[in-house]
Amino acid sequence: MNKDEIISQTIDHVKQTLAGAEGGHDWWHIHRVWKTAQHIAAAEEADELVVALGALLHDIADSKFHNGDETVGPRKAREWLQSLQVAEVVIAHVENIITHISFKGGNHQQPFRSKELDIVQDADRLDAIGAIGIARAFSYGGFKNRALYDPAVPPNLNMSKEEYKNSNAPTINHFYEKLLLLKDRMNTETGRMMARERHEFMERYLKQFYGEWEGEL
Ligand code: ADP
Ligand code: NI
Repeated sequence: MNKDEIISQTIDHVKQTLAGAEGGHDWWHIHRVWKTAQHIAAAEEADELVVALGALLHDIADSKFHNGDETVGPRKAREWLQSLQVAEVVIAHVENIITHISFKGGNHQQPFRSKELDIVQDADRLDAIGAIGIARAFSYGGFKNRALYDPAVPPNLNMSKEEYKNSNAPTINHFYEKLLLLKDRMNTETGRMMARERHEFMERYLKQFYGEWEGEL
């Protein structure tokens, strides 16, 4: 099977697997991450097949829906790629991308790095900011029945992962707690440039939001 066939079969497989997935991680999220990853990869020395497969398969199994089991995604990706008889080095690399893409940093050194992971991780983070990121945030907030904004509830940057998940904070807080921090966490030059634009767009959006909130704009 040639690379294009591997990719097109994988697209069909991912679409089928994600049918009925919630809005934040549906096929169109995968599609945007894949397109963005291709765009970033065009300016980098990277293995295009690994980038494409990493992007297409990165959310194949969300651990949130498998009792926090982070091994399901890489395992499902491996089984799929083995069924297509993809080379073992490619499979192992894609598994590593899926395992490490949501590595949050903090004080720990990321245990696996590659140019291809850097690219897919940038693309995934870019989908959380800018116009799409704003839409995803409010969509998530609506799903969780959260307020848009509450001036009496300030952002809290010191929550643990668990506290964050259970917090009922208004959606605007998510911008300060996560989204506005992402532009400084990009790996590639192209990713950083795209993040800067999207970041500025979010800042303009917030300014307009507060103006309208006060009835002043
Ligand atoms: P990922 O799968 O990329 O790790 P998440 O599952 O944490 O991302 O989030 C998926 C989408 O939902 C992202 O666009 C993210 O910004 C948004 N989201 C996550 N948590 C919140 C929240 N507390 N408030 C608003 N949006 C959120
Ligand atoms: Ni994703």
